[in-house]
Amino acid sequence: MPSLARRLLALLSLVTLAAFPAAVLASTPIVIRFSHVVAVDTPKGQAAELFKRRAAELTGGRVRVDVFPNGTGYKDYEEIQALQLGAVELLAPSLSKFGPLGVKEFEAFDLPFLFEDEAALHRVTEGPVGKALLLKLEPKGIVGLAFWDAGFKSFSANRPLRRPEDFKGLRMRIQASGVIDAQMRALGALPQVLPFPDVYRALEAGVVDGCENPVSNFYTQGMHRVQRHLTLTHHGYLGYAVIANRRFWEALPADVRRALEQALGEATALANRLSREKEAADLEAVRRAGTTVVFLPSREERQRFVRALLPVHRAMEDRVGREFLRSIHAATGFDPTPR
Ligand code: LMR
Repeated sequence: MPSLARRLLALLSLVTLAAFPAAVLASTPIVIRFSHVVAVDTPKGQAAELFKRRAAELTGGRVRVDVFPNGTGYKDYEEIQALQLGAVELLAPSLSKFGPLGVKEFEAFDLPFLFEDEAALHRVTEGPVGKALLLKLEPKGIVGLAFWDAGFKSFSANRPLRRPEDFKGLRMRIQASGVIDAQMRALGALPQVLPFPDVYRALEAGVVDGCENPVSNFYTQGMHRVQRHLTLTHHGYLGYAVIANRRFWEALPADVRRALEQALGEATALANRLSREKEAADLEAVRRAGTTVVFLPSREERQRFVRALLPVHRAMEDRVGREFLRSIHAATGFDPTPR
């Protein structure tokens, strides 16, 4: 091609680019940065991966989700600030981590033995109480999109934890929740707030003595290598709120938002199914590793924990909001009188 023609062609394409920036933009994907603190092989990790895949499929490649697992993006409360600042678009922090945002009702989910089972829990998270709770995030620049389960927590340490008295003086790692702090103190333990990605090293170094986790987090973090005793108390719920930066979410084209909501619905179903199914497999893996003694309390032994921890409900009533707590009780049929 003669050089003048080539130059003209180059000029023409520059003019075209300048005249149709929207067309150019449409070909670049919308990027959603999704940061979380757990391993990929957990209910949350797997649900995030499914969301990534389905978001791309359902939008025909218009959306690309970049997942940052294991706290490689941000740790605990840092990640909520990053979302508010627009440094990430999507997160799924545990409900225990919303207190510092000033929405203390989220900590109600940390109350020990509040949910009889998963069905009772879902009457809250999948009903009007859950919906109203997510709406409380909007003035903070956050849209609440879904609840994901991780499962019910159990205690671990390097000494057997068979009775409430066994916790006396133990330094227990907790998430930044006033309710979990009160729970540990009710057992005579000394709660210590630490970001999740630091827990393994803190246990290994003896900075803390024990912690509480669903078995999936316990196993995938390798905590069985540094905790000799695990007691299957299932005393408290661990779950997440999937949240987005509000400005980002509301600016999405309506069809893209609808597709993402569908992807999220599928991811929610997966997270909740895995939270049910993975406990047995991960527990089996812990047992096989042979480094941790797993203790399953009898009905009477578990009842002792219930009696020791129920007073936390009354003590935390004002913190999490009486009315809110009543709405949970109404949805679940929980009886707050001492058993
Ligand atoms: C924790 O900090 O223990 C959990 O919130 C971690 C998680 O995201 O499951």
